[in-house]
Amino acid sequence: KQYPVLTDSDFPQLKNDLILRAARGETVERVPVWIMRQAGRYLPEFREVRKKHDFFSICRTPELACTVTLQPIDRYAGLLDASIIFSDILVVPQALGLEVQMLESKGPHFPEPLVDPSHMSRLAKTVDVDKELGYVFEAITLTRTKLDGRVPLFGFTGAPWTLMAYMIEGGGSKTLSKAKAWLFMYPKESHELLQRTTDVIVEYLVGQAKAGAQLLQVFDSWAGELPPALFDEFAMPYLKQIYTRTKKALSELSPPLDMPMVVFARGAHYALEELASSGYEVIQIDPSLSAESARKRAGANVTLQGNADPCLIYGSKETIYANVETMLAGFGTESHYIANLGHGIYPDHSPEHLKWYLEAIRDVSTKNNAK
Ligand code: CP3
Repeated sequence: KQYPVLTDSDFPQLKNDLILRAARGETVERVPVWIMRQAGRYLPEFREVRKKHDFFSICRTPELACTVTLQPIDRYAGLLDASIIFSDILVVPQALGLEVQMLESKGPHFPEPLVDPSHMSRLAKTVDVDKELGYVFEAITLTRTKLDGRVPLFGFTGAPWTLMAYMIEGGGSKTLSKAKAWLFMYPKESHELLQRTTDVIVEYLVGQAKAGAQLLQVFDSWAGELPPALFDEFAMPYLKQIYTRTKKALSELSPPLDMPMVVFARGAHYALEELASSGYEVIQIDPSLSAESARKRAGANVTLQGNADPCLIYGSKETIYANVETMLAGFGTESHYIANLGHGIYPDHSPEHLKWYLEAIRDVSTKNNAK
């Protein structure tokens, strides 16, 4: 099946473009906000759906993916400024031919991880991205239609290094010692694996954009496990390649597309300067950086996204408000900033407390910008 290029005129008119303006560096009347993992287990309505369907069935069924993507948008009507398609970064290793399960208590699990480079022969030589990941494209098209222009929709992908780490470790790991061993033992084959993953990722992002995604985010969740020299050799070149090739491919579509791209190299604070000059319009930062130093180091021309510690959401309404005031004072509220958390919200967070966080961002930034 071939998917067409869908454009704004194929969808309901967008009523809230705050996040797109912030990503482009335009001034905003208040700070846009969204939350990583905003559709997830902290919401009782998500847990209801999860009782009946396993995780990857939800991802693979456009109606279900759409339903759970819209849950936080309905619940926090007027308080969230973006939606993100419900899926997972591990759908790309699945498209490459590896089996991935989502275990109830343990998270992702690969029954047969890549143990050494000879196992790379188990990966598909060529991946038909429309065939393997078309369900994500269909979920995006349906969700953007059902959003009815309330907020823009993010597509996303895992980054090559993070996906390589999962493919080798077979799941979560404290040290990533198996994946990092590859970088020292098999550097050539590591580059080959990263390159093959990159090729699929670029097509996957382009497919999401064609299907109606309005922003694209790349998650390099395990970037911070790499010392700077290894990040420079095995992560950064592929992040840059993804940006450049995706933008070029989008510009060559008929009609051409263009949209902001966000990079999240979690833990790689040492690379902030380099990330800020890599092309990505938006840099998501984790809680290890203060707003002031992140802004100083990233320069004035890139949009920053983040970065409250998710544990702030355990705090009282007053604590949340005070921390938001400090965070927004640090980042500034007029332009080049998108509020989020510094990583995904936790399953035991209270939906009510998250509402206080979203309200605080709206109220503090509206007040600041009215002055
Ligand atoms: O943000 C959103 O609302 C969109 C959906 C989304 C999910 N995963 C849904 C999900 C996104 C953007 C992701 C990205 C993702 N997945 C990342 C990058 C972001 C990060 O956290 O660093 C990573 C590393 C993964 C891999 C992954 N998927 C892990 C480690 C886990 C287990 C986490 C846990 O807390 O158990 C998942 C599962 C997962 N992905 C869940 C959700 C809602 C929970 C699974 C469930 O419902 O059983």
